[in-house]
Amino acid sequence: MPSPFNSEPSKLVITCSPGVAPALARELSDLSFPVSDVRETSVESEGTLADCVRLNLRLRTAHRVLYALDVFRARRCDDIYDELVAVPWERYLDSHGYFSVDRSVENPTVRNTNLPALKVKDAIADRMRNATGRRPDSGNERTDACIFLHWVGDRASVYIDTTGQSLSFRGYRAVSSEAPLRESLAAALILSSGWDGRAPFLNPMCGGATIAVEAAWIAQNRAPALRRENFAFMHLSCFDPSALTRERAAAERDWTEGARDAAHVRIFASDIDSEAVAAARANVEAAQCEGAIRIDECDLLRSPIPETPERGVAILNPPYGGRIGDPVRLRDTYEDVGAFLAIAADANYDGFVLTGNPDLAEAAGLLCERSRTFFSGALECKFLENPVLSQSARRRFSRRNPDITIPK
Ligand SMILES: C[S@@+](CC[C@H](N)C(=O)[O-])C[C@H]1O[C@@H](n2cnc3c(N)ncnc32)[C@H](O)[C@@H]1O
Repeated sequence: MPSPFNSEPSKLVITCSPGVAPALARELSDLSFPVSDVRETSVESEGTLADCVRLNLRLRTAHRVLYALDVFRARRCDDIYDELVAVPWERYLDSHGYFSVDRSVENPTVRNTNLPALKVKDAIADRMRNATGRRPDSGNERTDACIFLHWVGDRASVYIDTTGQSLSFRGYRAVSSEAPLRESLAAALILSSGWDGRAPFLNPMCGGATIAVEAAWIAQNRAPALRRENFAFMHLSCFDPSALTRERAAAERDWTEGARDAAHVRIFASDIDSEAVAAARANVEAAQCEGAIRIDECDLLRSPIPETPERGVAILNPPYGGRIGDPVRLRDTYEDVGAFLAIAADANYDGFVLTGNPDLAEAAGLLCERSRTFFSGALECKFLENPVLSQSARRRFSRRNPDITIPK
């Protein structure tokens, strides 16, 4: 029987954080994958396990790429064992290897979700022992082969999780800064902003430079997981290493060409805090995009805004007043953000603000007609599109900063 790795297409479920699915669906279409459904935290497509290699290397906004093995009705935990002991796991798993089982369960008969995960493990172990004379080791570490159970009501689905550790960890974060965004969210913000990857990109208040690095990688067409060493699909017994070699080589070529084409692209990052700037510099170096990003240590209102004939983009992620910052002083900061964006708009930039404290933004007079909702971890955030300062906020800003004129 041929290896299932290259030859058996199945449903793919690609997971993401809430709000990100439209950007993820666009990424899939751009990679010529069909999009059959867009849900709150996932997008459905179709492909082989070899296709999953490509998706794992290239998707910027995804967390995991799941390959569907079985969908069935399950009312009780035992139904899961009975169904899964009949799945030919020996075609996918190595009896000398190791696997883990993760789950998402919403079923009224289940109080402890460890139990259904245990049923999956037992079914796999028994099937493998019967088929090969040996069972693989299992545990909770997501370092090797990963299986995922999704069980809602009486409908259960079992997937091979081809990713393992979430794709949002790119591996370039050499130094941690305060309140960093997840890389996959930073990429989603940039893709949602409509930046063309060519015009100048501004990222004051850059913290550890997550947004700036993602912008550089998008401009250079650098696959985000190009240098990642471990993916769960590598631990499947049916894994075809030539698929990874081929996809990596193609992604390396795209990056070489992309970096050449983007040689003139300029990304301007800055932060007022010297530790954040040090973290940003270390991260940008680890992400190998020093040439594309200029980093300044300065106040937001001193950040560079170069002239541009093409429409540039500015994305700001100010403190929210929770983990960092004092809410009273932050009112001035949000006013400054509005003033910066007005100056940038006058110089041909679209402006976006991601905030976990939209009430503070509104109280500071930062008003907008359009915003989208994203989540930074569990925190609901608003991504404000071209917000403008209210008249009273402009007057207040001008009293504090008589030397700075805000364009009309
Ligand atoms: C929420 S953090 C940004 C995190 C960043 N997006 C990341 O992923 O690492 C906000 C940043 O704004 C910076 N900041 C606060 N007030 C500022 C100001 N007036 N000018 C420039 N930067 C400022 C802080 O030093 C902090 O690094």
